Amino acid sequence: MKTLEIHGSAKNSTIRVGEKLQNLYNYIPTENVVIITDVNVKRFYQNNFPPHPVITIQTGEKIKNLDTVRNIYGKLVELGVDRSTFIVGIGGGIVCDITGFIASTFLRGVKFGFVSTTLLSQVDASVGGKNGVNFKGYKNMIGVFNQPEFVICDLNLLSTLPEKEVLCGLAEIVKHAVIGDADLFQYLEENYQNALALDAVVIERLVYDSVVIKSAIVNKDEKEKGERRKLNFGHTFGHAIEKTTGVRHGEAVSAGMVMASELSVKKRHLQAKDAQRIKNLLRDLKLPISLQADRKTVFDALRKDKKRQGDRINFVLLEDIGKSFVDQISIKELEDVLNDFYYNSE
Ligand SMILES: NC(=O)c1ccc[n+]([C@@H]2O[C@H](COP(=O)([O-])OP(=O)(O)OC[C@H]3O[C@@H](n4cnc5c(N)ncnc54)[C@H](O)[C@@H]3O)[C@@H](O)[C@H]2O)c1
Ligand SMILES: [Zn+2]
Repeated sequence: MKTLEIHGSAKNSTIRVGEKLQNLYNYIPTENVVIITDVNVKRFYQNNFPPHPVITIQTGEKIKNLDTVRNIYGKLVELGVDRSTFIVGIGGGIVCDITGFIASTFLRGVKFGFVSTTLLSQVDASVGGKNGVNFKGYKNMIGVFNQPEFVICDLNLLSTLPEKEVLCGLAEIVKHAVIGDADLFQYLEENYQNALALDAVVIERLVYDSVVIKSAIVNKDEKEKGERRKLNFGHTFGHAIEKTTGVRHGEAVSAGMVMASELSVKKRHLQAKDAQRIKNLLRDLKLPISLQADRKTVFDALRKDKKRQGDRINFVLLEDIGKSFVDQISIKELEDVLNDFYYNSE
């Protein structure tokens, strides 16, 4: 097991990569604990949960909303939760985002921790202290910044994860490598087959290195005023594609990263051969490098981007593999890239 610290403004959080769900009891009180999980995780791993009351939610982005939150608040009242109660989320990004929001708001906040059970949540969702739910079709519109006491990334739990979910996690790992770690990128190029096969040694390095990059960025800029924006690499185009095509987040981000690399080349920051390396790696990892989406709806989605300021958007560009920066790009320029992209992939 390897550990990392996140220094949040209100409290610190310890990420434990390679720790086991079976050892969760070491990090929580012996009583007055409530577990939140989803139906799939419960089905696979209930036998390894410590003996505390369990609140089980359904799955999917559609249930990540205030109705589910209200339901859980009701169950917490029934269970007689008080300010000394500890809440643990055992699940993927949806369970962790909801658990963090509930624990931060119920009784003005109780202590909480996560056992992260998907690759995406281990390398991204459960690290960094953003917790929240969707509202009226807008993703993560209602939420708080608050760090959990701990995050356990049990790598053994990934063996039951559907392949599509593994790929989504790999897309975020590629993102971390591209924005901040050229060695990790090269390691991925050399080990992509083992990564896809969830080889224990390779996965441990990928998760750990990803968390190193994300936590270093969060430690510099917890509330996303500057440096943290780099974590949005590939996400401006990605979100627009995700919204309009309904493909999985990681797949949309993969295509978004290809477009953002091409824009970086077009603006003469990145060499074309490096954009090609990014494309090749994503392709090797069975991730899409282009996606068919209606051009007009993607443009509309770009114009509605949460991060838009007037007719410009804070956009993450590359100057090298492992080196990124944020620049303000006009919506018009983004539309031109989209046009080129569609033209070339038709
Ligand atoms: N807070 C953040 O900073 C942040 C960052 C990135 C993403 N997110 C959020 O994370 C969410 C996506 O997270 P996700 O990809 O983990 O999705 P998820 O939580 O929906 O999990 C994906 C699927 O895998 C199942 N599952 C979970 N663990 C399993 C296991 N070990 N074995 C078998 N099946 C398992 C789940 O039941 C679900 O069906 C989104 O809502 C996104 O907004 C948050
Ligand atoms: Zn993402």
